[in-house]
Amino acid sequence: MDEKRKILVTGGLGFIGSHTVVCLQEAGFEPVIVDSLHNSRIEVLDALTDLIGYKPVFICGDVNDKILMQGVFAQQKPVAVIHFAAHKAVGESVDQPLLYYQNNVAGLLNLLEVMKAESCHQLVFSSSCTVYGEAQEVPVKESTPILPAASPYGATKQMGETILRDLNWCRVQCLRYFNPVGAHPSSRIGELPLGIPNNLIPYLTQTVSGIRSLLTVHGGDYITQDGTCIRDYIHVMDLAEAHVAAINRLISGIGFDTNSNEVGDPSTQQFEVFNVGTGIGYSVLEIITAFEDATGEKVIYKIGPRRAGDIVSIWADTHKANAILGWNAKRNLDEMMADAWNWQRHCDKASLG
Ligand code: NAD
Ligand code: WQD
Repeated sequence: MDEKRKILVTGGLGFIGSHTVVCLQEAGFEPVIVDSLHNSRIEVLDALTDLIGYKPVFICGDVNDKILMQGVFAQQKPVAVIHFAAHKAVGESVDQPLLYYQNNVAGLLNLLEVMKAESCHQLVFSSSCTVYGEAQEVPVKESTPILPAASPYGATKQMGETILRDLNWCRVQCLRYFNPVGAHPSSRIGELPLGIPNNLIPYLTQTVSGIRSLLTVHGGDYITQDGTCIRDYIHVMDLAEAHVAAINRLISGIGFDTNSNEVGDPSTQQFEVFNVGTGIGYSVLEIITAFEDATGEKVIYKIGPRRAGDIVSIWADTHKANAILGWNAKRNLDEMMADAWNWQRHCDKASLG
């Protein structure tokens, strides 16, 4: 394999990382995975092996381990990195902020130091719509002002963006994900929440499969068309494909002034940020109806009190990603719901989750 096609995927056994590994391989890249298994299972590697037709290089380790990471870069010589590895539970970040700053911010710094030393100058970073907070206007554009973070988790994503914007030696594509849902259509990989899920779709599918008794809709008195909050749900396969588009743009050098000193010249555009959503907002009740229509299953739910910290409405303006990355979300809500449900049934059969 041409080393120029090797992409290091940190957190590559996680939810979004595993789907991206599949899309990278389909696009002719060779994914190399580093994952600590903190929030994923080794069985995902077997599923990936089946899906891509060979066993990808996997290093079980922590991005905070500098010696390990130096060895990975020296041996694998990836041309670019996609950095998924992070903790992502908002509530946990409020209880354990240092854990989040250590893993998400110090982990990024450690990765960057090794990348610089090993002359790897191209990075795709997992950011989040959480950086916008309760925006004054929707849909949010990349230029919409960033508000003070509502949680330490959100702060780690804002800090990550700030750090990366300041670099003058590394080309960065920063992707702000909206709400990823669904699973690979094969149902071999998907989201594996540990314990009681916080997010809507895994809670909903676990309710329908009988693991939870009912779904509580967090608040029915918001100023929206049906009183429930609005989000931009995106199929995880569409999100994974956005990473391939970002990697293609990075390694082609398009958008970066390659006539200057390439890396190291502060006058060159080194940092780009993109919203990655569908551009459509759906309420919680619309999601429940869409799930019932897509699967023929009934969702047992009640309207409960508002959840602290929830924003009312957010969805993405995706024109920048459409125009510059040449990427569009292709899968509709029906596919998101059907794939999420098929994945839940697979987990039930395999006693996962
Ligand atoms: P995930 O927890 O499923 O995957 C993250 C993976 O990283 C896990 O396999 C975990 O074991 C690994 N990991 C964590 N810390 C590590 C470390 N220090 N070293 C090595 N491996 C480590 O999460 P996900 O949903 O796939 O999210 C991936 C990225 O996308 C994260 O950065 C997350 O903050 C971001 N993001 C997620 C969402 C979402 O709703 N899922 C939305 C916006 C942004
Ligand atoms: C969606 C909607 C809930 C559960 C979170 C993070 C954010 C980003 C994406 C990483 C909301 C409602 C939920 C339930 C419900 N992650 N809901 N009953 O809050 O938009 O975003 O994931 O970056 O940072 O905060 O996603 O799936 O938790 O909620 O009514 O049992 O579903 O109130 O309106 P959220 P979510």
